[in-house]
Amino acid sequence: MAGPKLLVTGCRGRLGRDLVHFLGLDFEVIGVGRSDFDIRDEKAVGSFLRRVRPDVVLHAAAYVDVDGAESDRELAESVNVDGTANMARASREVGARMIYFSTDYVFDGAKKSPYIEADPPNPLSVYGRTKLAGERQTEVHAGGYAVLRVARLYGLAGPNFVLATVKAGAEQIRRRNAGEKVTPIRAVDDRIGSPTWTADIAVQTKVVIENELTGMFHVTAEGEASWYRLARDIFEILEWDVAVEACPASEQARPAPRPARSSLENAALKSLGLNFMRGYRVALSEFLLTNKERITGGL
Ligand SMILES: NC(=O)c1ccc[n+]([C@@H]2O[C@H](COP(=O)([O-])OP(=O)(O)OC[C@H]3O[C@@H](n4cnc5c(N)ncnc54)[C@H](OP(=O)(O)O)[C@@H]3O)[C@@H](O)[C@H]2O)c1
Repeated sequence: MAGPKLLVTGCRGRLGRDLVHFLGLDFEVIGVGRSDFDIRDEKAVGSFLRRVRPDVVLHAAAYVDVDGAESDRELAESVNVDGTANMARASREVGARMIYFSTDYVFDGAKKSPYIEADPPNPLSVYGRTKLAGERQTEVHAGGYAVLRVARLYGLAGPNFVLATVKAGAEQIRRRNAGEKVTPIRAVDDRIGSPTWTADIAVQTKVVIENELTGMFHVTAEGEASWYRLARDIFEILEWDVAVEACPASEQARPAPRPARSSLENAALKSLGLNFMRGYRVALSEFLLTNKERITGGL
């Protein structure tokens, strides 16, 4: 197959699976998971990359348990900071470009409009701090690199909010049809972001690879929504009669603080005329309707 040879870490993860699937349609792609090598093991990382000699490394492996990181700081740091440094050094050694996936949680959420790449980060959580440190490791140790900040991912690989909400909606309908008592789904209305389909990230990543883009890029769907708005959108698109109620984040208190509004603006891609990310509702409709049978179990 013509074109660059890609190596995708975290290939069994939510993002990694769609990167392997969609980029595999156009490129030679090697997907690796923890069973191939632990990214914290510098020697194992180096020897694998020297053997495979990829042209581009897409680093999607990470410690992503936002709440768990608050009490498991050392593990989050070793995977997200040291592991990323290992990937960056080894990529440089074999002459590969590196693409590192980061997060909207590098921001504190205090800004009243979507964040652009030039806005100063200020993570609220351990997870956010380790991902920001991973960005720095990439910038310092990789040769050619791009950092892609993504957010609120959904796709066929779960768990994610969209799949969980569809499941909860299906359960509500089943109960109502069985004459059982139904309680509305409660979804947080004061946490706002950009829900993004992993397939769209794969498409945009292809553009980043083909144009050898370098630097920091926000890569999220256009538009923004609270979790409550997103839940409402899901049932409107599916045309399901499901009761959803808005609630404050304080009602579902969790160990890690989260930004109130962490929507991202794809400003850098737009300035290059290379933003291919779609409106979040258009992408959500395509995801739900093209995968309806599989996601809803035929309901
Ligand atoms: N999910 C979101 O909403 C979201 C939002 C913003 C940013 N992101 C970023 O997007 C990227 C992908 O996230 P995701 O949701 O796809 O995560 P995920 O589903 O948890 O997948 C991450 C993968 O990383 C691998 N991994 C973890 N520790 C490893 C280690 N020590 N060595 C090798 N592999 C290891 C795991 O491999 P095994 O399966 O083999 O154990 C796992 O499949 C991450 O950088 C994350 O920070 C995600």
